[in-house]
Amino acid sequence: MDNRTAGVAIYCGSATPALAAAVAGHLGLTLGGRELTRFPDGEVRVQLEQSVRGRDIYIIQSTCAPVNEHLMELLILIDAFHRASAGRITAIIPYYGYARQEKKTTGREPITAKLVANLIAEAGAHRVVAVDLHSAAIQGFFDIGMDHLTAVPLIAEYLRATFDLTNTVVVAPDTGGAKLADSYAFMLNLPLVVMHKRRASPHDVEVRAVVGSVIGKRPIIVDDIIATGGTIRACAHALVEAGALPEVIVAATHPVFSPPVADYLNDPLISSVIVTDTIPIPAALRLPKVQELSVAPLLAEAITRLHTDRSISEYLRAHRERRPV
Ligand code: R5P
Repeated sequence: MDNRTAGVAIYCGSATPALAAAVAGHLGLTLGGRELTRFPDGEVRVQLEQSVRGRDIYIIQSTCAPVNEHLMELLILIDAFHRASAGRITAIIPYYGYARQEKKTTGREPITAKLVANLIAEAGAHRVVAVDLHSAAIQGFFDIGMDHLTAVPLIAEYLRATFDLTNTVVVAPDTGGAKLADSYAFMLNLPLVVMHKRRASPHDVEVRAVVGSVIGKRPIIVDDIIATGGTIRACAHALVEAGALPEVIVAATHPVFSPPVADYLNDPLISSVIVTDTIPIPAALRLPKVQELSVAPLLAEAITRLHTDRSISEYLRAHRERRPV
């Protein structure tokens, strides 16, 4: 431990223990001890193993599947630290689940992203850190401190170092993803193509239009999440039908990977899939074409800056630079 981390303690729930250990390792720390078990009826039971009075606590927990279990673990951990008189509690949520219902698109719908933000604040968190939220507007759902990190520079750097990006275009799979895709296009200095998709149901994706020239180009589809994989598969097929090369690269921050993603990832038009470790990938889906990058250094840097009251946006800005391919 050095001055940058004196008083810091890192804890995790059961969602992302390997990522949490890697973050602690980057900071020269080990994870704080806590018992995290279940009562016989399934209720979450937490017991902190050391005093945390006055400490600067960081709880690393993605709200990935099983989403409700991981969300309750996070809330109950926050409550435990709150009641144990921690000095400051920061929930580091690499993947913020329940984000896809962030507005009402029709009548009689909930806004789960806001509900979860309320629950986290009510449990006693002072600050939240998340990576590539489904919608940046979710930041405004928090009346406590909120820092929105991005893995785009990490993934863009990997793409630049790994592939010959001449004759390549960046593709947003839908109009909602255009801003994220524009960040990639800016950093990689590549043209941007936007697709128009319509979703009849969570499993049924239809591409209606491809806006931009893809003939003879290699597409990189970029997105915040890959869930069932229906979007990337439908987009890959539509791009190749529109004249793109049949070797589609896909880059997304969060490998949500819900069924039938294995079938879609195996689609021969998809040559590479780049994701991060905000969500652990099950062994069966660790395919040779799937490359996982780690956000641990990013989270460790954020913790150091939060603890020492230094700017996070300056760090993010410095990494969002445009470089020729
Ligand atoms: C949509 O708005 C998201 O950004 C993703 O494109 C979508 O949620 C991916 O879902 P799936 O992989 O199930 O098509």
